[in-house]
Amino acid sequence: MSFVDGPVTVRVPASSANLGPGFDALGLAVALHDEITAEVIDDGLEVRVSGEGKDGVPLDETHLVVEAMHAAFDLMGGRPPGLRLTCVNVIPHGRGLGSSAAAIVGGIVLARAMVDGGDELLDDAAAYQLAVDLEGHPDNVAAAFFGGLTIAWIDGAAAEVERLTTDVDVTVFIPPSAVSTAKARGLLPETVPHRDAALNAGRSALLVAALTGRPHRLISATEDRIHQSYRAEAMPDSYKLLRQLRVDGVPTIISGAGPTVLAFARGVAEAAPQGWTVHELAVDADGATVVRP
Ligand code: HSE
Repeated sequence: MSFVDGPVTVRVPASSANLGPGFDALGLAVALHDEITAEVIDDGLEVRVSGEGKDGVPLDETHLVVEAMHAAFDLMGGRPPGLRLTCVNVIPHGRGLGSSAAAIVGGIVLARAMVDGGDELLDDAAAYQLAVDLEGHPDNVAAAFFGGLTIAWIDGAAAEVERLTTDVDVTVFIPPSAVSTAKARGLLPETVPHRDAALNAGRSALLVAALTGRPHRLISATEDRIHQSYRAEAMPDSYKLLRQLRVDGVPTIISGAGPTVLAFARGVAEAAPQGWTVHELAVDADGATVVRP
């Protein structure tokens, strides 16, 4: 196995999982990108991080991008003697915008691009499977990897995905503090009422239709009964903004495990509470992309 000369750069998008009713299944890639660059060096590991999370992430083998790169190198046949990695982070951490999935997917796609013949040694299906195995949930991974609107599921142990095209308008409202996915998952009940499960099944089917050509259905299609309200206590301001926008007729959901609020609309930025960051974003149609060389 041999490695390409010089630095390789990968761009990977943020993503929003669940989209309301599609819990653990639907994902949407949005145009907010981390950029990661790596090159083979004679030995050792050098990790530099700027931007989001720069003071909170380890700079050793336990850095999530490095872990993903090592896992990918191992599958392709071996690690390089040394590695220099530079991460320019734009996706906020702990906000429900898929920063972990972006790190894992970005690391795998980067490692693959650094190996001669990497695309054959680790094809998209194998790379996606590895990313899902490392992340644990397929929804953000699918969107970060393939871009666009994704439906992701696990069949036995196999990670599966259908990718669809959408050009919906998106505004994200990002609160100043994080909520961990583990904490948000811990608030979910073991079981939900059958009528709530039935509502979510219907609305998530409708949401796929709404996002692929029937936008007038978005307000009904983004209704959820099985996770958002259970998590409200961990993100009361997010839940309040969600209710307020929905009452005003704006299709709005909690992004992933929260606490970011996502509206399928533009021109609603003034609803943001003080201190929150607002972005009007396009859908990212490309997913993780090698931009250099
Ligand atoms: N779908 C997950 C959750 C988040 O809501 O807990 C991302 O995998």
